[in-house]
Amino acid sequence: MSGSEQERVEAIYDEFAKTYDEHYSAKEFQEEDQELFKIASPWIRGKVLDLGCGTGLSLHYNEIAKEDYLGIDPSAGMLEKLKAKFPDYNTVQATFEQWVKTNDQKFDTVLGLYGAPSYFESTSYQQILDLLAPKGHYFLMFYKPGYFPAHIYTPEDIAAAKARIDYDKINQLFENTFIFTSYLVATNIPSQYLPIGNRA
Ligand SMILES: C[S@@+](CC[C@H](N)C(=O)[O-])C[C@H]1O[C@@H](n2cnc3c(N)ncnc32)[C@H](O)[C@@H]1O
Repeated sequence: MSGSEQERVEAIYDEFAKTYDEHYSAKEFQEEDQELFKIASPWIRGKVLDLGCGTGLSLHYNEIAKEDYLGIDPSAGMLEKLKAKFPDYNTVQATFEQWVKTNDQKFDTVLGLYGAPSYFESTSYQQILDLLAPKGHYFLMFYKPGYFPAHIYTPEDIAAAKARIDYDKINQLFENTFIFTSYLVATNIPSQYLPIGNRA
């Protein structure tokens, strides 16, 4: 995304960070989280990279050793909340696109939960796959076609963001895709473990 659009997204999340955890502590969202981690948690293992880690949702629901975790997020406000809850866990304040240029590590698990990868340039999708160690798994939640979190964005933000997400590329590049609530999940978790519906 353009520099000015990225700055706007950061400003929105710096502000939303103040109430993010309270907002998502409502019963309906906790139930959504529980459903999500029923699918994802069995595959969260080894070195975990949490892209767009926000306030640390993955750490709240999973036991991940601090040596095994790295969270990436451009929003100082979101990372401040994560650090308050999980002070010993490593994070980098950067966009995925900035951080990946200097990274030379591989990861067993790459997460991008609840819309975070929707902010990445579509040209960087392949770089997510290149980060995986052999037998590694990825679990990426894009906003599903037509959805964007309207409670925090203006209609102009939403139009720009929708134009950025390349759904054809997501479906071609990633192994399995399925809709989970308001998200299009892209993952290489084998399809028999996914709520993918009946296949012919
Ligand atoms: C909807 S929040 C999800 C946060 C967290 N994954 C969760 O499930 O609670 C989206 C996150 O993506 C981050 N983000 C925005 N642009 C990004 C980028 N280019 N690279 C990495 N993260 C980004 C935001 O700062 C925000 O924390």
